Amino acid sequence: MPKIVFVLADETKKEVEAAVGDTVLEAARAGGVRLPGACMGAMVCGACLVEVDTPWAERLPAPEAREETALESAWGATPRSRLACALKMTEALDGLVVHIPA
Ligand code: FES
Repeated sequence: MPKIVFVLADETKKEVEAAVGDTVLEAARAGGVRLPGACMGAMVCGACLVEVDTPWAERLPAPEAREETALESAWGATPRSRLACALKMTEALDGLVVHIPA
C-alpha cells in the first residue's frame, strides 16, 4: 500500500497507508489525520487544501477543471496547492508528502 506523509501545521509528521484509489482526504481520515472537508469531496469548499511537497507537485496529474476552479478561489492557495479530495493514490505516489496548512 502506498504511504502518504502528512506534515502537520506544527511541523510534526504522520505517515499513513492508503489504498490505491483512495483520495488523500480519505487516507487522512482513515489514518487519524485531521483534515477538513465540508463538501465531502465535491471540490467546492476548498477546505481540504494541502500543499504538495517538491518534487511531488510536478509528478501529479494536472488538476481537472473542477479542482482548478476551486483552487482559484481557495484562500492561501499556492502553485503547489491541491485539493486532498481530488488526489487519488496510486503505487507511483508511494511516499507522497503533503503539508496541512495551519
Ligand atoms: S472536501 Fe471540499 S473541496 Fe475537498
